[in-house]
Amino acid sequence: MSDGQFEKSFLPDSNHTRKKRLKKRPRVAVIVTVVLVALLVLGAVAGVLYWYFTDSTNADQSGEQSGKVVRIYSGHLNLPNAQYTRQLENPETTDFKELAEKLEQVINTSCKNLDELSSYFVNSRVFDYSAGSGLMAYYMAQFEIPMEHKDILHKFSEDALKGALRRTVEVRRSFEDKKLTITQMTSSLTNPDLVMIPEDRTCYHTYHAKDTDMTFTSPGFNKDGYPNNIHCQWVLRADTDHVIYLEFLDFNTDDDCGNDFVMVHDSLSPAEDDVITKKCGKRPSSKHLSLMSSGSVMLVTLLSDENERFKGFSANFSQRVKMRECGRTLTELSGNFSTPYYPTFYPPNMNCVWTIKVLPHLKIRIKIEMIRMEEPGTRHGECTKDYLDIDGERYCGDHPLISVKIERPEAVIEFHSDESHTDKGFIGYYKAFDPRNPCPGEFLCGSGFCISTDMRCDGWNDCGDMSDERQCDCERDQFTCDNGICKPKLWMCDRVNDCGDNSDEKACECPKDHWKCQNGMCISANQSCDGHKDCEDGSDEAVCTNGVNICTEFNYKCGDGSCVNKANAECDGTKDCEDGTDEANCVPQCGVRPFKQQRIVGGTSADLGEWPWQVSLHYGRLGHACGASIISDNWLISASHCFMDQYNDPSKWLAFGGMNFQGDPLAQIRRMKQIHKHQRYNEETYDYDIALIELEAPYDLLPKVHPICLPDTSHIFPTGMSCWVTGWGAMYEGGSKSMSLQKAEVKIINDTVCSVVTEGQVTSRMLCSGYLTGAIDACQGDSGGPLSCREENGKWFLAGIVSWGEGCARKNKPGIYSRVTKLREWIREVTKL
Ligand code: ARG
Repeated sequence: MSDGQFEKSFLPDSNHTRKKRLKKRPRVAVIVTVVLVALLVLGAVAGVLYWYFTDSTNADQSGEQSGKVVRIYSGHLNLPNAQYTRQLENPETTDFKELAEKLEQVINTSCKNLDELSSYFVNSRVFDYSAGSGLMAYYMAQFEIPMEHKDILHKFSEDALKGALRRTVEVRRSFEDKKLTITQMTSSLTNPDLVMIPEDRTCYHTYHAKDTDMTFTSPGFNKDGYPNNIHCQWVLRADTDHVIYLEFLDFNTDDDCGNDFVMVHDSLSPAEDDVITKKCGKRPSSKHLSLMSSGSVMLVTLLSDENERFKGFSANFSQRVKMRECGRTLTELSGNFSTPYYPTFYPPNMNCVWTIKVLPHLKIRIKIEMIRMEEPGTRHGECTKDYLDIDGERYCGDHPLISVKIERPEAVIEFHSDESHTDKGFIGYYKAFDPRNPCPGEFLCGSGFCISTDMRCDGWNDCGDMSDERQCDCERDQFTCDNGICKPKLWMCDRVNDCGDNSDEKACECPKDHWKCQNGMCISANQSCDGHKDCEDGSDEAVCTNGVNICTEFNYKCGDGSCVNKANAECDGTKDCEDGTDEANCVPQCGVRPFKQQRIVGGTSADLGEWPWQVSLHYGRLGHACGASIISDNWLISASHCFMDQYNDPSKWLAFGGMNFQGDPLAQIRRMKQIHKHQRYNEETYDYDIALIELEAPYDLLPKVHPICLPDTSHIFPTGMSCWVTGWGAMYEGGSKSMSLQKAEVKIINDTVCSVVTEGQVTSRMLCSGYLTGAIDACQGDSGGPLSCREENGKWFLAGIVSWGEGCARKNKPGIYSRVTKLREWIREVTKL
C-alpha cells in the first residue's frame, strides 16, 4: 500500500505541486458496445482517505474551494488471444494506436457506467504493451473530484471493485470479438506524478535486456547531475520466461524522498500495487541495491524537485531465466535456505516452502542471521504481506537474529512475497542435533546453540543470552563482577559498564573525604586547593575557587601570566582572564554546528552539516586518501603520515570541504599551498603524527564548512568522555572506503590502560579512544580526521587526530590519536592561530 505521500489534491495554480493531466489525443471513435471494466477505478480504498484529508484541509484553510483531487488508477489488461509484436512498442504505429483506441473505448464506456462516480471520470489512456500469455496492455484512468464532493470518496471499496471487474469480464467473454477478450485486469491507485503518457516522453528510454549486462545512467550523471523537476522513465523488457535483474552501481539522490526519488515497478504501469522499491538518498558502492522483477518487464522512474542537484545513478541490468519454483526438502544434517536471488531483492509474487526432515531421533536448530522484509504500510507484528513462517511462527519486517529450536525431526519453513514492495530477504541455516548429546565437544548455551568451549568465560557474550559467561572461575587477570561474570581487569574503571551491573565501574571512586586526581590517584580531600600540588599531575590545584593563583598544566595561562582556576576556560564564551586572552585567541565561532542546531567501523552515516570541519583529502586520481579538519578558513589539520614520499607534493592534493557523500557536486574544493609536517614526526612510532595544511585560497565559511576549536594545552578530556570520530575510511578491517561520511561515538581511554594495551607504544603525544571490547573504531582512510569532543558549553574541540591502531575495532586494541593539547604550541608557531 502507498506510503501516502503522493496523492495530492490539485488546487488551481498551486505552483508547488507538479501537475499531471491526461492530454486528450484526437482520435476516431470506435464503438465498442460491451460494458467492461466497470469500476476499474475504485481501488485501494483505505489509504485513500487519509491523504485526501491532509490535502483537502489545506485547501479549505486557504479558502480554495474550487480545488479538486486528481485521482489516477493504473494497471494492466491481459488479452490472451492477441499477439505481441515489436510494433506495439512504438506509439506512432497504427497497430499501437488502433488497439489503444479500442481498449480505451472499453475503459471509457465502463467508467461512464459507474453510476455515482461516472461524472468524475475524465479520460483513460493505454500507454504501453508487453508480451505475456498473449498480450499485456498498460492503461490508466483519471478522475477529478471537486473538493465539495469529497464525501463520494467514502463510497469506494476494494470489494466492490473486485466484484465489478469479475462480472464485466464474464459478460464480455460471451460475445466479444475474440482478439479483444480480456481475462485479467488490475487496477491500483497511482501517483499522478509518476504517470507518463506517450506525448510526455521527453526523458524516456526503452531497452530489451540480454543475458549480459547493459547499462543506463540518469541524465547528467557524469556531468552536473540530473536537472531539477524532471520525470524520467526507463522501460526494461526481457524475453518471455525471463525476469529482469537490475543493479544500481552508483546511487546519489536527494535524502528527502518527498519529490526526489527513484522508483522501480514490477509492471510498466507505475501503480502502487506493483512497486518493487522506492529509494532516495545515497548508497555507498559497498552497498549496491539490486532488484529482481517477477515477470519480463520492469519500470524505473526518476523524479526530481527544484532543490539541489544530485549526481544520480548508473545501473546495470540483464535478464535471467525465471525461477520456476523455490524451496525443497532438506534431509542433510545441516544446510541453508534463502529467499530467491539473496542478497538481491527477492522478486514479488513468490512462494517457497522448505521442509527439513532429518533422522527421527534428532531435533533441529534454525538460525536466521538477518531478515529484511520491510514493507511500508504494514503494522508492526502484522505479517500479512511478505513473511517468513518457521513452523507456524510468522516473521516480517527487519530482525537482526532469530534462533529457533524445533523439538521434532521435521520443520516447515515458508516464504511468501506479495505483488508489491520487496527487500533483501534472508538466509537461514539449520543443523540437526541429538538431544542426548546436543553439543559434542562444544558448550551448550541456554539458547540451545553450541559454541566452542574456549569462548566460555572470556568476557564476551557469545551465546547471546550470557549463559557462556555465568558460573565462571575468574582468572588472575580477570575481575569478578557482582553478577559472577569475569571481565578483563583492564576493562575496570573505564567508565563503560562491561559487567552489565556496573560493578566494574563502582570500585573506581576514591574513598569518602578523598579527592580523585586526573590520573586516577586518590588524595585526602583537604589536600586539594591548598596551594600545593599533591596529585602527581597537579590536577588538585587546577579548579579552585579560593583565589589561589596556581598554575598547573590544567590551568589556562592568560597573556599576563596569571592563571584561570577553572577547567577548560579557553573559548568557552566567558571572559576569565582579566586581559581577555582566553577568549581572544579563538577562531571566531569555532566549534559550533550552525547547520545542526539541536569509516569508521561500527559507525553510522552522518547527517549533512553535522561535522562541518571534516574535510576529505583527495590525492591525484586515487580519490579520498585521508581526512582533515578545518581550523580556520585557510588552515587544515591532518596527520603527517598522510604526506610521506610522493604524497608530500601539495599540488597533487585537493581538499573537499562541506561534503558528506564522496562526489557531492556542492563540495568546496581547494588546492593546497603548503604542507607542514611536524619536524619530529617519526615514521616508525607515529610520534608527532600531525600536519598543517595551508590552503591556496580560503574556504567560504558557511554552515556546512566551519572550523572546530583547538583546545588549549591545559584542556582536559577526561577518561570516559564520549567523543566522535568521523571519516570516509574502511567500514571494517580490510574493507573498502565508505562513500558517505561515517560517525562513531568513542570514549577517551585512561592513559595507563592505553599504555598497557599497546604494550607501551604510546607516547605523550598520543591518546587512546574507543572501546576495549572492540567493534567500534576508526580504520584505514580515516587518518588525519578529527576526534571531536563536545564541551558543556556546546562547543566542539579537536581532542585528537586519527593516527594509527592495530587492525581496526579489535578487542583490546583501541584507536590511537595524536593528542592535540600536546601539539598545540607547534600549531600556534606554524599557523599563528
Ligand atoms: N593509519 C590509518 C590511516 O591511514 C588510520 C588507522 C586508524 N586505525 C584505528 N584502528 N583506529 O587511515
